[in-house]
Amino acid sequence: MYDFIKKYLFKFDPEFAHALTLNTLKVADKIKLLTLFSEKIILPYECMGLHFKNPVGLAAGFDKNGDYIDVFDALGFGFIEIGTVTKNPQMGNPKPRLFRLEKEAALINRLGFNNKGIDYLIAQVKKTNYQGILGINIGKNRDTPLEKALEDYLYLFQKAAPVASYITINISSPNTENLRDLQQGKLLKNLLSTLKSAQKDQRKYVPLVVKISPDLTVDELKNMADIFLEEQIDGVIATNTTLDRSQIEASMIKSEKGGLSGKPLFARSTLILSQLHELLEEKIPIIGCGGILDSNLAQEKIKAGASLLQIYTGFIYKGPVLIREINKSLRNFA
Ligand SMILES: Cc1cc2nc3c(=O)[nH]c(=O)nc-3n(C[C@H](O)[C@H](O)[C@H](O)COP(=O)(O)O)c2cc1C
Repeated sequence: MYDFIKKYLFKFDPEFAHALTLNTLKVADKIKLLTLFSEKIILPYECMGLHFKNPVGLAAGFDKNGDYIDVFDALGFGFIEIGTVTKNPQMGNPKPRLFRLEKEAALINRLGFNNKGIDYLIAQVKKTNYQGILGINIGKNRDTPLEKALEDYLYLFQKAAPVASYITINISSPNTENLRDLQQGKLLKNLLSTLKSAQKDQRKYVPLVVKISPDLTVDELKNMADIFLEEQIDGVIATNTTLDRSQIEASMIKSEKGGLSGKPLFARSTLILSQLHELLEEKIPIIGCGGILDSNLAQEKIKAGASLLQIYTGFIYKGPVLIREINKSLRNFA
């Protein structure tokens, strides 16, 4: 069924197809059609003190403004991460900025945090009846200089924490200039210690999760892991998209600027995941993300040290059946 729909959708520009799909699904959900076709998958899992319906989550960037939370719940995700959201609304980069690499089961995007801002997102969250785990992924505005980034993150954390199950600090998108510099040394330490203090001031405990890049060297990763342990970060998402093109040498689209996701990202992001798993000595859980296109690849992420999983590009290429397939295989694996 999804293969048939995909043939039609893939005739359109990727960003248009994305919006068309989400709006159609929203209508289907309103008239209770989605529950007829999707199966709620219950495979309870506890992590970071939170109770997950199942370990397969939606990665950030699919629902940047929190407009489709109920849709993704109905499709069977065990948890949903919305955002990246910034303090002020911003348009993102000029179009075209999203490219499909069909043969490689991949995408290149340089959206650049297009979103309607934190106030809009919070209003959307307050409108839903969703009871499951909701992550809110936060990032700095494009025009916020690096020296002031901390102020953006602190503001966003304080606003979003009361309505979130956990907060993801996105310092790894390749599409906001210099953002990845926040992954280094003093800048990282300062950012995380400030947010950890702010966490203590909240009425409820809201886990802080850091999303990292797959393009880190072993030394960079080691320095980050030391800071995560010192600051007692609650979780890490490994990984965001990559700037590396070595896995798509034959593609016509390889020279488009932006972050590469999907199958060609799998090996690199899983290597980072396993290295981090060793460095963190199981003291901090890791959410495995990057290139999960089927249940075998999902199993490999778990074997490399992932406690939870997130998918984005796999969902575009495989549809909701992928959530079911992975959960079924995890049930057998458990
Ligand atoms: C079109 C697109 C937009 C994305 N936007 C965001 C974002 O706003 N914030 C973020 O943290 N990650 C974002 N990502 C990265 C994904 O959340 C995920 O980390 C990455 O795509 C690797 O997973 P995948 O191979 O399953 O797609 C985006 C990815 C894509 C393809």
